[in-house]
Amino acid sequence: MGAAPAGAAGDRASAARAVRDMFTSIAPRYDLLNHVLSFNVDRVWWRRTARTFQHILTRSDARILDLCCGTGDMAFALQREAGKSSPQIVGADFAHAMLQRAAVKSAGEAAPCWIEADALCLPFPPGHFDLVTSAFGFRNLADYDAGLREILRVLRPCGEVGILDFGEPQGAMGAIYRIYFRNVLPRVGTLISGVRGPYAYLPASVERFPSPQEMLARMMRTGFAEAAWTPYTFRIAGLYRGKKAA
Ligand SMILES: C[S@@+](CC[C@H](N)C(=O)[O-])C[C@H]1O[C@@H](n2cnc3c(N)ncnc32)[C@H](O)[C@@H]1O
Repeated sequence: MGAAPAGAAGDRASAARAVRDMFTSIAPRYDLLNHVLSFNVDRVWWRRTARTFQHILTRSDARILDLCCGTGDMAFALQREAGKSSPQIVGADFAHAMLQRAAVKSAGEAAPCWIEADALCLPFPPGHFDLVTSAFGFRNLADYDAGLREILRVLRPCGEVGILDFGEPQGAMGAIYRIYFRNVLPRVGTLISGVRGPYAYLPASVERFPSPQEMLARMMRTGFAEAAWTPYTFRIAGLYRGKKAA
């Protein structure tokens, strides 16, 4: 099970190509749209996620991978949280245009290093990283189980993963949010980006994404020793945490 953009053939390679083309097409307006459509709450979510892993980020010998890094905001939040400790932070994404924008935004000696790579086939040896994060990227993978297996492979024993992604709020709040997410957001997104498609794909991909319960079960089945989910802002988003066995 994985992302299935409209119009892509049913196989993994076609889905991945459609996702990459989509992000390439919206890269110039991606940051603006992110902040407008989330009312800037995205910044709070990245910061909160980074704070969660402070115990790793403040180790100067730590190696951190931000997967599906896009234009780099999660990686920058990790860098800020790390402060003077300056661990090694690598941002990886398969859309060149997104990485180009991340590189333009980079500043300072401790800036993350950017790598063009597919999350399902990472160019790193087993056990390389102390922490792998992914913000709003994991949901776009063409095969979720393969993504989890690859994350587990590159983590060292006792290494941790943090997957931040959208959820589905419940109750009255959920009903109001769904009107916004399904009807308003795709229209505004299409208007500002000038590209039809990606902002209709967003709510569809969230609906298709496994529930927190199922996602945690998948993490445990993949081989994580621990898995937990923390809802953010009425469950609009949430953080999946996992730990590799010693
Ligand atoms: C919604 S953006 C998130 C970007 C950033 N993490 C953020 O929080 O703004 C999703 C990113 O995932 C990337 N992505 C999707 N599938 C990928 C894959 N298989 N390998 C690498 N990157 C992928 C896309 O290119 C895109 O830049």
